[in-house]
Amino acid sequence: MEDPYTIRARKEGYPARSVYKLMEIQEKFGIIKPGYRVLDIGASPGSWAMYTLKVLKGKGSVTTVDKEPLISSQTNGIETFNFIQGDILEKSTEQKISGRAPFDLILSDAAPETTGNRTVDTARSFGLAEKVICLAEEQLRAGGNLVVKIFQGGDEGEILNRLRRLFERVRAYHPKASRSDSFEIFFIGFGKKT
Ligand SMILES: C[S@@+](CC[C@H](N)C(=O)[O-])C[C@H]1O[C@@H](n2cnc3c(N)ncnc32)[C@H](O)[C@@H]1O
Repeated sequence: MEDPYTIRARKEGYPARSVYKLMEIQEKFGIIKPGYRVLDIGASPGSWAMYTLKVLKGKGSVTTVDKEPLISSQTNGIETFNFIQGDILEKSTEQKISGRAPFDLILSDAAPETTGNRTVDTARSFGLAEKVICLAEEQLRAGGNLVVKIFQGGDEGEILNRLRRLFERVRAYHPKASRSDSFEIFFIGFGKKT
């Protein structure tokens, strides 16, 4: 039987079911606000960016970054999302991102391609989350918020501690829309310290 979130995404015109995870986060915490400059890391195929643009209601901007292209036909044009194609672990990508900074909100749904080996997958996810936190340290304004995904089962406690040093308040959130066999979790940092 097809997953209900996949069916709903198709019906509502989103290229990925993952949009409903961000929607839950938004409904619970209201982290996206009109006027915000948002950085969406690991944005492809583009459903988080589409949803974020809707919430911004024409005020603010979304900068997207991914190793893979966005699906332009389903995302109303790549330009809308100020798309940077590149690997966030590479310096050249970081430089391009910094040209658009500072941001009010950084979202990261970035995930490594899974190998089936949980040790390898969690270690790669940890590496991505660490990089996202470095980007938040440098390119998120004081008072800004961060959403970062990580695979559980590795060193996520270390990530949590880093976030607690960087933000006034940190929450761990497991959206209902995450697949039942998924070991992902989202950490949300509120109010970057000065
Ligand atoms: C789960 S998908 C994101 C789905 C997206 N949030 C959406 O709603 O359409 C994870 C993305 O992370 C990207 N990614 C993984 N490692 C990356 C890296 N080092 N640099 C940039 N993007 C990366 C992948 O290419 C993939 O598109």
